[in-house]
Amino acid sequence: MTRSLAPVLATLLAAACAQPAARDVGEQLFHDPRFSLSETNPFACATCHSVSPDDTRLVAGGSLVGAVARPSFWGGFETTMLDATNVCLTRFMRGGLLTRDEPRGRALYEYLASLGTASGTEAVPFTVVENTTNIDRGDDARGEEVWQLACADCHGAPHTGEGQLHPSAVVVPEASEAFATSVGYETGVVVIEKIRHGVFFNIGGTMPPSSLEVLSDEDLGALLSFLGV
Ligand code: HEC
Ligand code: HEC
Repeated sequence: MTRSLAPVLATLLAAACAQPAARDVGEQLFHDPRFSLSETNPFACATCHSVSPDDTRLVAGGSLVGAVARPSFWGGFETTMLDATNVCLTRFMRGGLLTRDEPRGRALYEYLASLGTASGTEAVPFTVVENTTNIDRGDDARGEEVWQLACADCHGAPHTGEGQLHPSAVVVPEASEAFATSVGYETGVVVIEKIRHGVFFNIGGTMPPSSLEVLSDEDLGALLSFLGV
């Protein structure tokens, strides 16, 4: 009896391996830009969202641990996680709308649900600075840290773009200088506007906005000082 169990177990294991659990598929999808069906999208969900307290990046989308249990999303503008995800898919990832019954969406949901709710089930505040004003510059050394934690994943190195995720993530701050001159603003103000509003408020592009919760004005001031704008 015991001897005959071995092949049975082997077959069961093979079957389990051939069809990975939906949660594992979801984990892969979370880290893969191809979750968006657009061929020109370079971002994965993981580019802008963390899934662990060990991830100390200042990601624009914050943590998705516990997101499945939140009562509302996007600072109260969206009431389902599917709608919240669709904002990201269409605004940032150049994709189409995900529907409730698609297997890739189900798998992603299983993965996000598997992260648990240890970080709480409350809605996450998301405060967008409406009117861009100039802010006090801060500490260069902190600014360099902020660049690494908030910008480098996409833009690579400042001034050169070395290591950038994709050429569409332009060289900062140089790319803003010509525009700033043409509209008669200081480059620093254009950079603040971009960071606070991203693609929103008719600014265009695919960069995400950073809320006050993700990036304080103090950290932003330090960043501007490091960038020399
Ligand atoms: C380019 C950056 C970016 C990408 C890529 C991205 N998101 Fe987001 N996401 C954001 C931002 C910014 C918010 C708003 C943050 C907030 O509401 O606290 C957000 C909000 C969300 C929310 C609502 C969170 C909340 O509590 O308000 C969910 C859920 C979400 N994203 C899921 C996803 C999933 C799933 C993917 C991949 C398919 C994805 N996002 C890709 C930037 C991004
Ligand atoms: C998820 C990727 C991503 C992150 C993170 C990100 N950016 Fe961007 N950023 C982009 C992309 C893509 C563009 C070009 C498209 C656009 O304008 O939205 C861009 C454009 C810009 C521009 C506009 C340049 C111009 O044409 O005037 C500035 C300035 C900028 N980013 C600064 C930053 C800074 C500073 C940070 C960190 C606080 C940051 N970005 C974080 C992807 C990102």
